[in-house]
Amino acid sequence: MRILIYSFILTLLPATALAADDSANGQSIYENRCKICHQPPKPESLSMQQWKAVLSTMQVRMKQKNMDPLSEQETADVLSFLEDSQ
Ligand code: HEC
Repeated sequence: MRILIYSFILTLLPATALAADDSANGQSIYENRCKICHQPPKPESLSMQQWKAVLSTMQVRMKQKNMDPLSEQETADVLSFLEDSQ
């Protein structure tokens, strides 16, 4: 049993270590952080180029409201979710 648990943990390690863009995490950020101010529009309603511009505008708006802006990883995760939803 112990061996099983160890090998399970080992399979998970590479993914965590790389910190690859996590679309599922991006979706939860999108659904939870954006609605603090307003309901975000549908992911497919804007192109990726437009999304990149909008996200940096939103970062400014969060700072203006004294909210913590998205970290670099969180921004990458949200972009990855938006890309998957195009
Ligand atoms: C600090 C508050 C705040 C947060 C958090 C926020 N927004 Fe906004 N957002 C605004 C304001 C203010 C506007 C402009 C007024 C409006 O359209 O309601 C806006 C407008 C928008 C627009 C319309 C285009 C534009 O630039 O006017 C989009 C798209 C958008 N937000 C997406 C998002 C997404 C996606 C998130 C989450 C990553 C997010 N927003 C988080 C405040 C915020």
